[in-house]
Amino acid sequence: MDTLETLKPDILKKIEEADSLTVLDDIRVAVLGKKGTLTEMMKTLGQLPPEERKMAGQTLNLVKTEIGDALDAKKKALEEKELEQRLATESVDVTLPIRPQQQGRIHPIAQVMEEMLTIFAQMGFELAEGPDIEDDFHCFEALNFPHDHPARQMQATFFMQDGDGLILRTHTSPVQIRTMEKKQPPIRIVAPGRVYRCDYDMTHTPMFHQIEGLVIDKETNMGHLKGVLVDFMKRFFEVDDVPMRFRPSFFPFTEPSAEVDIGCSRENGEFKIEAGKGWMEVLGCGMVHPNVIKNSGLDPNEYQGFAFGFGVDRFAMLKYGIPDLRSFFDADMRWIKHYGFLPLDVPTVTSGLSLNGGQKR
Ligand code: PHE
Repeated sequence: MDTLETLKPDILKKIEEADSLTVLDDIRVAVLGKKGTLTEMMKTLGQLPPEERKMAGQTLNLVKTEIGDALDAKKKALEEKELEQRLATESVDVTLPIRPQQQGRIHPIAQVMEEMLTIFAQMGFELAEGPDIEDDFHCFEALNFPHDHPARQMQATFFMQDGDGLILRTHTSPVQIRTMEKKQPPIRIVAPGRVYRCDYDMTHTPMFHQIEGLVIDKETNMGHLKGVLVDFMKRFFEVDDVPMRFRPSFFPFTEPSAEVDIGCSRENGEFKIEAGKGWMEVLGCGMVHPNVIKNSGLDPNEYQGFAFGFGVDRFAMLKYGIPDLRSFFDADMRWIKHYGFLPLDVPTVTSGLSLNGGQKR
């Protein structure tokens, strides 16, 4: 065991001098690995006479433990040293200037869409969608429009060139038909999307956004419709009392029908929710006409329900005080900087971004 006597201090010295975890691991493999020096020595024990074998075995085992302990201790020390070094180099310099202002903004329409859909989702509505390019059947025919209805005429509807009668949808109501064609009641959906009409002034643009709502089951009535809309307005505008009026109206696809106006003022170039100053029409609604239910393949004697359609852009004008609808689509950087929302603002579950001072910047 002479060699062992010289080998041991040699190995311990190497361990002591190891300056990295990789070097240390190389030593471990060279000594204790499958082909390591100590392992090889263990293998030769069998060739010794029995009386020597016991002693030699014990000595070898002691040395092995000692070296193992030394390896462990050194490993721990090296790991601590490495951590200390990392902590020293990865420290944060709190005196550095903050990042430059974010340039991009969320468009108020995207923001308001998100806020609205969140409120409806919390009320239990599912999301539905339909195509922007529609056919006459879904946009008008199934919705009970008479053949000579003005909405079908050139001045309101955009027709596709060579489109085989295809049109740009003038409202999101075709999604009512598409949903009832596919789904059995109970149905409770909201369908957001772009709609197109040949129109252009302070409160009209040729493309704008709507959210359609549809609830169909066996007992849903006008009271439920009113409840949903009143609750929605309070949540959306974050006030306990939104001045609202339901006006009797007419749509071919609802009976009875109503339009809803919101009390507002338009002073000093700003829109404000306010009672007693004036009204702005924001949505149409009513009980789904039995013909519409029938045209979608359901039995109007069994099912009934309500529908509503919002102009999203107008709600954005009202909530964020934007006076002219046309400015939404001007792509003016100064406008979007002023009315847009910071993409990295943290929304709250109930109010989206509007509580975080998102109102005007
Ligand atoms: N589609 C109608 C419009 O665009 C709104 C509406 C939807 C009315 C649903 C009643 C029911 O004006």
